[in-house]
Amino acid sequence: MQTVITTSPAEAAAILTRGGLVAFPTETVYGLGADAFNEDAVAKIFVAKMRPSDNPLIAHIGRPDQINELAAEVTESAKLLIGEFFPGPLTIVLRRSKRVPDVATAGLDTIGIRMPAASTAKEFLIACGTPVVAPSANLSGRPSPTTFEAVLEDLDGRIACILKSDATDIGIESTVVDCTGDVPLLLRRGSISLEQLRSIVATTAAAADDDMIASRSPGTRHRHYSPRARVKILTAEANIENYLYSGGRFAYIGFRLVDEGFVFAKTCSNMVEYAHELFEFFRECDRHGIEEIYCDAVPEHGLGAALMDRLRRAAED
Ligand code: TXA
Ligand code: MG
Repeated sequence: MQTVITTSPAEAAAILTRGGLVAFPTETVYGLGADAFNEDAVAKIFVAKMRPSDNPLIAHIGRPDQINELAAEVTESAKLLIGEFFPGPLTIVLRRSKRVPDVATAGLDTIGIRMPAASTAKEFLIACGTPVVAPSANLSGRPSPTTFEAVLEDLDGRIACILKSDATDIGIESTVVDCTGDVPLLLRRGSISLEQLRSIVATTAAAADDDMIASRSPGTRHRHYSPRARVKILTAEANIENYLYSGGRFAYIGFRLVDEGFVFAKTCSNMVEYAHELFEFFRECDRHGIEEIYCDAVPEHGLGAALMDRLRRAAED
């Protein structure tokens, strides 16, 4: 398949409404979209990404009223969080309407809904006129793509179209909150922090452990965000000198100034920059056959909690 590359949201939307798969930029990462109500198109996502079929997709909307096409019921807590954080990097899980095909939600009776804030995403979703289900636009198991080039690397020839734009603003995926019950439950950390959610709905809980999350959100069971290189997390006390000059093809990302001894080293001036750069750095390391990537740990609050979640998943064996 010849993948069309365009900067026109209208052209990309026309391809999507004809049943094609379109990768598009959001403020978090690039997504791989299909018309949420076209069962055959949705099924193609799992083939193109080589994604396990038990991993549910997030539905993206351009207008708030589209929530009613997707959700059977909008709970009070959902209304509060939507009022505060839509459009933005937040996914709300609700009971789904019968219109949504089973394949989109991996058979769950719920659906994740998100309204991106990035202007290209907004224009594209408005032009589509239909909700668009989209996972991150990477091959399954690879780091989420934050640049057009990363999408091309994984999906060129496998999808109908890429809507090309700049690198995404945030660089890690949306916060996912289950709002089906009385108490909102944080399923995946993202740049909207638990503290921010609690400032709107004070009872918001963090899912206690991975088993609990996996039972509500099957996708989290799968290996994620992983470069081919081994990822090692450096605590603040770790002495970087111990990892230098050992002869391996090693790389480093974090806050320290390291001049020599690593094939690649990226020094970030703050946490926002670290989150923005991380996945592309992982990919750059893979392009150059790096064996080990050393990553500074960060304090676990706000965006730092999301960043540590991604680092830990990438560091899993
Ligand atoms: O920022 C993002 O969320 C990006 C952009 C493209 O919007 N999308 C993204 O999608 O990261 P994906 O498929 O890579 O991750 C979706 C996550 C998975 O952990 C999945 O299990 C969870 O959301 N999820 C989706 N639908 C769910 C549902 N109905 N119930 C619980 N978890 C759900
Ligand atoms: Mg993903």
